[in-house]
Amino acid sequence: GDSAHISLLPTETLLRLLGYLGPADLCRCSQVCSRWAQLARTGSLWRHLYPVHWATGGEYRGPPDEVDQEPHEDWVKSRRHEDRVFRDEDADVDESDVSGPVEDSRAISVVQREKKLLKGMIQNLLPVVSSSVRSVVLAYSSTVSSKMVRQVLALCPNITHLDLTQTDITDSAFDCWSSLGSSPSLEHLDLSGCEKISDQTLKKLSVALGGLPPSTHLDRLLGRRARLLRSPALPPGPKRRRVPARVWLLDPSELTDIEDTAEWSRRGAEGRGRSFRALSLEEGSSSCCCRRSKRRGHRTALGASFLQRRYGTAGDTLCDHYSCCSGDTAPRTEPCSPCEPFSPGESCFHGEPCSPWEPCSPGEPCSPWEPCSPGEPCSPDSQRSWQGRGPGRSNRRPLRFLSLSGCYQVTDAGLRALSQGGGLPSLEHLNLSGCLLVTEVGLRELVSACPALNDEHFYYCDNIDGPHADTASGCQNLQCGFRACCRSGE
Ligand code: FES
Repeated sequence: GDSAHISLLPTETLLRLLGYLGPADLCRCSQVCSRWAQLARTGSLWRHLYPVHWATGGEYRGPPDEVDQEPHEDWVKSRRHEDRVFRDEDADVDESDVSGPVEDSRAISVVQREKKLLKGMIQNLLPVVSSSVRSVVLAYSSTVSSKMVRQVLALCPNITHLDLTQTDITDSAFDCWSSLGSSPSLEHLDLSGCEKISDQTLKKLSVALGGLPPSTHLDRLLGRRARLLRSPALPPGPKRRRVPARVWLLDPSELTDIEDTAEWSRRGAEGRGRSFRALSLEEGSSSCCCRRSKRRGHRTALGASFLQRRYGTAGDTLCDHYSCCSGDTAPRTEPCSPCEPFSPGESCFHGEPCSPWEPCSPGEPCSPWEPCSPGEPCSPDSQRSWQGRGPGRSNRRPLRFLSLSGCYQVTDAGLRALSQGGGLPSLEHLNLSGCLLVTEVGLRELVSACPALNDEHFYYCDNIDGPHADTASGCQNLQCGFRACCRSGE
């Protein structure tokens, strides 16, 4: 009778029942009536999103720890085939390994379904359940774009788990991270195989996790340090007050830092978002001095061979690290400008923009964290505070897992950005396999800012004599076949 009708069940019970359904059934239920439509939009039903998995018929909606992370067999097969054709267009291809027309049409329909699902999710689902979403797994998606990721991140401020393994996204996917603390809950970020990712993404990530000034301040900081390197003279300016020139003595580690910063700034200014191919062609005339070290030379030559095979570039890149650019004539002294960092007692320039590296204008905050008194110089204490090392800041960055495996454009400058703002105090898993441009210097700096790092889950190139060399795990990409590795093809 009527007393047994499902519509008479209490909301809690109905919700419990809906929790057992897969995403497709939930969508069907939402078309039954307005009450069910409302129930189906309950945030707790959509905490963990797997659109790529759902497009192939999967129904899993639980936490990501239990999901199968391995690529689908078809994906690996098609990738290997693609790679073989790319390496040698005249090579004989084993036709038995290539999918036939039936498989092709099946793959096309999966791709179309995935694209439709992603679009529907972004347009219809995320706007109503956004704050409840914790995990978004887009690994091995062939249709996700940078714009889609940007929309997902903008709509899901409480995301803790983001998996973009082996997707075609670029740095622009993380544009919304340029605002301070935009993803402060992020615990797991997997960018394995995202070959277009560069230092820009790591810089944005560092800002998004909090503990850093907004990007404008960071850019100014980097620009400032790069200017110090390029120009020995004080830039003229009507409002600048001349002060007696002093000599700024640099120790090698400081110089390394500044040179990297200059390189980072130059790349950012001249070629934000460009592909590695473009960068390499322009810089091809400069060969990396890392070759002078026997050990590094081995790595660089092999890395170059990977790049040559895959991207048709010489792989000669200018590393710009002081420690390995022994032939460089970089000055060891620079005339000091009045607003040298960490110089207490210097007056500030009225009307100058404020940054942690430059004394501020009267009445303006001297950093995002520490306002100063009008007319007072920035103190080294306030700068330390800005760097997130003050009390109460150490636990603000919950990132526990970071994989950049195969992101070969990442350099020491990107790692440095992560070590800013208090470092990554919770990071346990760090995968830098196949990061061909990273050196021992960058690794040591980052590791020193990651006290919770578990060596068993710390992966980097076998040819780097880096931190925790005896206990850290080696490169994971040796046998991979589709991710960057300086030893691929050996
Ligand atoms: Fe050097 Fe894999 S990147 S061994």
